[in-house]
Amino acid sequence: MDRIRINPFRPLGAIDPNLFGGFAEHLGRSIYGGIYEPGSPLADEDGFRRDVLEALRRLKMPIIRYPGGNFVSGYRWQDGVGDPSERRAQIDLAWQAMESNQFGTNEFIKFCRKVEAAPYFVVNCGDGDLREARDWVEYCNGTQPTYLVKLRHQHGFPEPHDIKYWGLGNEIDGHWQIGYKTPAEYARVATEYSKLMKWVDPSIKLIASAVSSWDGDVVERAQLLLEQAGHLIDYMGLHGYIGNPDDNFPKYMAQVEMLDERLTAYEGLIQALRLDNKIKRPIAIAVDEWNVWYRTHPEYSKDINGLEEIYNLEDALLVAMQLNLFIRHSKTVKMANIAQIVNVIAPIFTRPDGYFLQTIFYPFELYSQTCGNITLDAIYEGQTFSSDDQSALPLLDISATLDSQNNQMVLYVVNRSQTADLETAIQLTEGGFVGDVRVVTINGKDIKGQNSFETPDNVGARESTLAAAGSSFVYTFEAHSVTALICSLT
Ligand code: AHR
Repeated sequence: MDRIRINPFRPLGAIDPNLFGGFAEHLGRSIYGGIYEPGSPLADEDGFRRDVLEALRRLKMPIIRYPGGNFVSGYRWQDGVGDPSERRAQIDLAWQAMESNQFGTNEFIKFCRKVEAAPYFVVNCGDGDLREARDWVEYCNGTQPTYLVKLRHQHGFPEPHDIKYWGLGNEIDGHWQIGYKTPAEYARVATEYSKLMKWVDPSIKLIASAVSSWDGDVVERAQLLLEQAGHLIDYMGLHGYIGNPDDNFPKYMAQVEMLDERLTAYEGLIQALRLDNKIKRPIAIAVDEWNVWYRTHPEYSKDINGLEEIYNLEDALLVAMQLNLFIRHSKTVKMANIAQIVNVIAPIFTRPDGYFLQTIFYPFELYSQTCGNITLDAIYEGQTFSSDDQSALPLLDISATLDSQNNQMVLYVVNRSQTADLETAIQLTEGGFVGDVRVVTINGKDIKGQNSFETPDNVGARESTLAAAGSSFVYTFEAHSVTALICSLT
């Protein structure tokens, strides 16, 4: 029989709650018609969709990145503050769309308060300049009676917004970006932006736009960036999207191995550069855009349709596996932001009279609501599978966490077999189980099953319990499923 052995006394890393962050961009129906729809019968007094806020609260996102994405590289934050009737509209060149600027800095702050998330702003390092970035920090966080701080007061916010997280541009390594920069150019830009933004508010945390294009100059970029700005940057931001364009189930299930290799390599790279450059302060990884995205990706389709990707069950498995990956790398990955939150490659899909929950909503909700504060060492000994170019991959993809205050362990398991249920012994190497185990399973009849307004429950989560005592029990993981075993320990 297959088995999973977990040592509850062997911590592998502290889990930062920011692993369950989100990302909202001015793109398609993400903001307008997604979270913000003044005049809708479903909107609250501030114009936010009450139903969407409710669904988002279930995801318990502690942090949300904004306003882009590619959009930010042409964004002027000043056009999005003050009296809405006087705001200037502009063409968003990144997505070739009209931007009314009716939603901006202060609307986003209100939104974050409603969903209890910390705002994470990205500054324009594309066609923007240093002054614009330092001014934005001052407008948001300033306490002295300057022109910009008084302007914030006039806009109805006497207290500083106290924005802690600031991103230094978006995907600046990609030729699709407004204001693409070479490694040397970005290292200079990031250093000067960081210096000035931290002079305005030394308490802020900065996230560099490190890698989105993985087949280019990953090492050179990190090297120049950390040589020059290693004393200022707090996170290296990495982006990665995956998908199943070949409709090949084993190959899709194996993609997370490639993501694991990238993270492992990047962790080593940061460590080596910190050593070489005598950087004593920690520099973490923020995977500040991740998800499944291929049906509406320009690389695979001409019809990108506001990136309104409709997800299926196999995509939900990949979302769970990416969360397993971040948990296993929790020592270095201290933030992750699913891209995005509503309508645009998102777990929530709206129309004017309501919404439905996409398949990928369920694993995100499960993990964000149950994940502990410490990663545990968990080892799977069992069956393997092969994909086109990889073999001997474990059929179960797993991670385990401990909530050290309540002595609660959660084992997360994705069964990557398309057909086989897997009977597995769950064994503690030390200590024992006590009371019932709460079991949450995400599955559906068909790996291609999708949710929709007509069939909202094709894929969803269901709960059961099982009794456990001593140091082991047996559980059968259903084919193509995500399971969380939530156990109390002695
Ligand atoms: O999330 C959609 C897009 O993906 C973002 O605008 C960009 O940063 C990335 O390429």
